[in-house]
Amino acid sequence: PLVSLRQLLDHAAENGYGLPAFNVNNLEQVRAIMAAADETKSPVILQASAGARKYAGDAFLRHMIQGAIETYPTIPIVMHLDHGAAPPVCFSAIENGFTSVMMDGSLQADGKSVADYEYNVDVTRTVVDSAHAQGVSVEGELGVLGSLETMKGDKEDGHGAEGTMTREQLLTDVDQAADFVAKTQVDALAIAIGTSHGAYKFTKRPTGEVLAISRIKEIHARIPNTHLVMHGSSSVPQELLAEIRQYGGELKETYGVPVEEIQEGIKHGVRKVNIDTDLRLAMTAAIRRVMFVNKGEFDPRKYLSEGIKAMTKVCVARFEAFGTAGQA
Ligand code: G3H
Ligand code: 13P
Ligand code: NA
Ligand code: ZN
Repeated sequence: PLVSLRQLLDHAAENGYGLPAFNVNNLEQVRAIMAAADETKSPVILQASAGARKYAGDAFLRHMIQGAIETYPTIPIVMHLDHGAAPPVCFSAIENGFTSVMMDGSLQADGKSVADYEYNVDVTRTVVDSAHAQGVSVEGELGVLGSLETMKGDKEDGHGAEGTMTREQLLTDVDQAADFVAKTQVDALAIAIGTSHGAYKFTKRPTGEVLAISRIKEIHARIPNTHLVMHGSSSVPQELLAEIRQYGGELKETYGVPVEEIQEGIKHGVRKVNIDTDLRLAMTAAIRRVMFVNKGEFDPRKYLSEGIKAMTKVCVARFEAFGTAGQA
């Protein structure tokens, strides 16, 4: 059945596990995630960005997710808007059947520059008022995402300045987080703790801790009833990078967030873990392999099926690692 984000995150908090939130744009991603959820008996968060809504179209997205609900009637599914840039974007998502929306007021509506705190409170509160009246959950975001290795804000998502930032600028402030939640009443809060979007998170293989786990603990201690969200949580598996390179792809050396650090976050209030890049890498690696190995292949179902299998494998691993498996 279709459920709200709040329902799933409350259950995750009560039972001490986390949920991956996978980005979807097409049928293959929806099928891959649902196959993994079915295999592991996991509840599911499917999230669509503005780019996904443009690519697939709201009606196709809605009906693909309806297809998932009909095919797997026992699995709870959330249809979530990822990074809504302004209240009208969130409202149109709600009209199109989303059961949860992210109002990302950490950035101005153009997605390019960091917003004032007062602006963020204002737009987020506006969305919460309307969404809650309709039984829809809201995720907010406070802070500037960026890597604590490179000290650069997250440019891919429009978060960052070109220059380097200080560690404190790249971490969500604890007092401000408490004030933000009190003023907006969001169901879930995305925090800046050292993650960034995309494949290029860390230039060196992580040896010690790459995230600010201590900040997660401090925020969770201050607002224990708020579900925390980690964006930019792809682990960028080295074997997928190797496969892409083996079959003609050119990707620079790069590292993602170690799964063990996400597990540490889950022990301290992280309930929603956003993953997009890892599924992109899995799909790309599989398609490159089939295209390379079988040069005569031209039935898209053949290489897309391999892509689905590769994405399902990643999803199964995350459902198991985050403790989601067995919770549906
Ligand atoms: O946060 C961004 C997600 O990875 C979605 O990416 O905006 O290219 O669809 P997108
Ligand atoms: P990744 O790029 O690490 O997969 O993060 C995705 C994300 O945060 C979507 O909101
Ligand atoms: Na931000
Ligand atoms: Zn994100």
